[in-house]
Amino acid sequence: TFVVTDACIRCKYTDCATMCPTACFREGENMLVIDPTECIDCGICIPECPAEAILPDIDPLATPWLELNATYAAIWPEITNRKAAPADADAHRDEKGKFERYFS
Ligand code: F3S
Repeated sequence: TFVVTDACIRCKYTDCATMCPTACFREGENMLVIDPTECIDCGICIPECPAEAILPDIDPLATPWLELNATYAAIWPEITNRKAAPADADAHRDEKGKFERYFS
């Protein structure tokens, strides 16, 4: 399965969700997550993300985000359409420590 990481926080470009053939993206206020029970490992979302926020679950950098994706995928609503990114999305693109700073 694939995993959305903290690089998505406050960027939320949503290009990923429009491409997913199984509609496995879920939308929170500051980021999207992938439902691991719906992801079919096609990888089509990976190159769509301008923030390079999506990683395969076997990537060590994805490990801290596995549980978060699974937990919030069960709570947050499905998203399949593109939405305008936050006006300051580009300013947050390469920012470090976003989870600690913004996630609620
Ligand atoms: Fe987030 Fe990238 Fe999708 S910034 S909303 S994972 S296109």
